[in-house]
Amino acid sequence: MSVPLLQIQNLSVSFNHSPILEDINLAVYKNEILGLIGASGSGKSTLLRCCNRLNDVLPGIKVKGEIIYQGENIYHPLIDPVKVRRQIGMVFQRPNPFPKSIYENIAFGLRVNGYKQNLDSIVEQSLRQANLWEEVKDRLNQSSKILSGGQQQRLCIARAIALKPDIILMDEPCSALDPVSTAKIEELLLEIKQIYTIVIVTHNLQQARRIADRVAFLNRELNDRGDWVGKLVEWNTTEEIFTNPQQTSTLNYVQGKIG
Ligand SMILES: Nc1ncnc2c1ncn2[C@@H]1O[C@H](COP(=O)(O)OP(=O)(O)OP(=O)(O)O)[C@@H](O)[C@H]1O
Ligand SMILES: [Mg+2]
Repeated sequence: MSVPLLQIQNLSVSFNHSPILEDINLAVYKNEILGLIGASGSGKSTLLRCCNRLNDVLPGIKVKGEIIYQGENIYHPLIDPVKVRRQIGMVFQRPNPFPKSIYENIAFGLRVNGYKQNLDSIVEQSLRQANLWEEVKDRLNQSSKILSGGQQQRLCIARAIALKPDIILMDEPCSALDPVSTAKIEELLLEIKQIYTIVIVTHNLQQARRIADRVAFLNRELNDRGDWVGKLVEWNTTEEIFTNPQQTSTLNYVQGKIG
């Protein structure tokens, strides 16, 4: 395999000295969809948030270890987290469009990030890439709140895409959506992975099977000191994780016996 785009090395996270994640080592490769699966509380969201330094804003959270991106540790004191978040974008579980027009949902972020020209064309291109343009092109100045949940989530993906990130992190982006909207987002992710790299947390094992190239399984385990902590149990191609997992806990999870 080629050189990883993102390399998580010996990453441990704690909250007020209680461990959340311990010694995570994981690589993300360009133009792949990497699925993160695992029981509730195993630290999937925490791990995802570490990848664009979103945990920095949470009091009491301490991150140790390194995440190497473009040859540098994103936790190095000289690295600007705002820049990291521009290159490594995030789409959340609940669609969270701004209470602004459809157009402004995308244009606003562009302006904040210093774009002044061609806003119309970037807005259109982003909405097209997110497979939303045809549904909204005649009502760009209406509020984002008139859109359905699935359309709002595609608007949030368009908003992330507009800044031309390298990597898009997604935390259960379909869990609040109906099956048709979910299918549209899955189709969209399979299209845009040719341009972007996607790390997606999902509780939907069928979804991981349908769209992920590789899957990493996290689990809550007891460490040497008797604390429950999130560990990366194994990662592999999606096929291997689901049909030939190396660890019993992975087998139990993919067979629906835990979580
Ligand atoms: N900001 C925080 N402050 C305190 N504890 C936290 C914080 N964020 C996460 N935790 C703790 O870390 C552990 C992992 O949480 P996390 O949300 O990462 O799990 P998850 O795998 O995403 O779970 P779920 O599948 O339910 O979303 C939990 O025990 C949680 O209580
Ligand atoms: Mg979570």
